[in-house]
Amino acid sequence: MKTLKPSEIVTELDKYIIGQHQAKRSVAVALRNRWRRQQVPAELRNEIAPKNIILIGPTGVGKTEIARRLSMLTESPFHKVEASKFTEVGYVGRDVESMVRELLEMTITLDKAREHEAVKEKARRMAEERMLDLLLPKSGPVQAGRSPDPGETQIELVTAAAPESLSTREKLRSLLRQGKLDQRYVDLEIPDRGGGPMVEIFSNAGMEEMGINFKDMLGGLFPKGIKRRKLKVPEAMDALAHEEAQGLVDMEKIVKHAIEKVEQAGIIFIDEIDKIVAKNGSHGPDVSREGVQRDLLPVVEGCTVATKHGPVRTDHILFVASGAFHTVKPSDLIPELQGRFPIRVELDALGRAEFVRILTEPKNALVLQYTALLKTDGIDIVFSKEAVDEIARLAEEVNTRTENIGARRLHTLMERLLEEVLFDAPDLPEQRVVVDPRYVETRLKDIISSEDLSRFIL
Ligand SMILES: Nc1ncnc2c1ncn2[C@@H]1O[C@H](COP(=O)(O)OP(=O)(O)OP(=O)(O)O)[C@@H](O)[C@H]1O
Ligand SMILES: [Mg+2]
Repeated sequence: MKTLKPSEIVTELDKYIIGQHQAKRSVAVALRNRWRRQQVPAELRNEIAPKNIILIGPTGVGKTEIARRLSMLTESPFHKVEASKFTEVGYVGRDVESMVRELLEMTITLDKAREHEAVKEKARRMAEERMLDLLLPKSGPVQAGRSPDPGETQIELVTAAAPESLSTREKLRSLLRQGKLDQRYVDLEIPDRGGGPMVEIFSNAGMEEMGINFKDMLGGLFPKGIKRRKLKVPEAMDALAHEEAQGLVDMEKIVKHAIEKVEQAGIIFIDEIDKIVAKNGSHGPDVSREGVQRDLLPVVEGCTVATKHGPVRTDHILFVASGAFHTVKPSDLIPELQGRFPIRVELDALGRAEFVRILTEPKNALVLQYTALLKTDGIDIVFSKEAVDEIARLAEEVNTRTENIGARRLHTLMERLLEEVLFDAPDLPEQRVVVDPRYVETRLKDIISSEDLSRFIL
């Protein structure tokens, strides 16, 4: 992926998110600055601290959506977390530092997958040699070639094998490549990765720190088991290729590189940051929320987080926070934290005009979604322009009269509107359903005109 210009980032975001231009611009600039910083000479680079952003806007106007789309556009390590998931250090739950650990973990996984992809061809060729070793009748010098290092295998084969067996080998190879051996089984010894899942359960409970120790401990307790399995040839090829690729990839280098990337270009998106604001003078769970804010300070400011791959500095990680700030204000965050998010961007509340566009324009627009869904049952559903206008108008109306839940209102309205056809689609005699203003009115009018009903149903 190439590095996108800010204008290109905005164009990409425009494909999914309507309006919110200012928010798109600031995240685009922040993203570009990640890359710019990399191009600056080293001495100065260390001086350039990221300018953290806080996105503020009512619920359902696209804050999380921007983060989601952004993560797909950037080459920088990107991780989105929910602030409400964290608990203060000392309490049971996830501590805030785990977000850095997860970012690193994700980066490593991605880089590893990329490296695996790069050595795929080579690993496949090596696996093929090993497969041929397995398939050939175990006799004569050929068998000596069954060594863990496939490079060596080849050499040994060439020197030691008799010419006949060599040609047999080639015949077998061509059969293998043509898939003629796909139904045959081979015995395969593969390293048993038992113990892994158990560790996973522990770390899911939020005990990463313990998880680290457990992993090391368990690794020592249970010797690396080798499991013997009977596999069909294609599956065995995959397993062998995987094993070979693992040997070809230099994990140490990947980890080192990943740590560097996280430290220099990492982005962490903290969603729902308003959920860790303690309401004035309250006690109980709120106390711990403020603790989370305090725990966040050093991470945002720059500290060293211990991970199982080594220490990670957070000085240059960019933090983008977002929150609806419905009942609380950004100024209710503890002052130190406010100061660490110098860029504030407000997202606009959405109205009728935006709803019309949201219904039809994005690549994943609701109208397109429902059209595609019903198509599978052989129904062509057509939304007239006037009907879309009407749905948008109703969404705005319900939003003002009851709770403003932004674009999410469109989801509830559409679901209600199409409930009937979604249920009956497989049995409908006609192939074409036209949604016009009348259709909308008959299905939604009663609910909308009664405030109580709309509170419960929409
Ligand atoms: N500006 C927009 N353009 C297109 N779709 C939107 C827009 N705003 C919201 N949506 C749609 O509405 C839904 C909710 O949006 P999103 O999750 O981004 O809300 P949010 O701003 O994060 O709200 P909350 O504060 O409740 O988390 C998403 O499915 C998204 O597709
Ligand atoms: Mg959200």
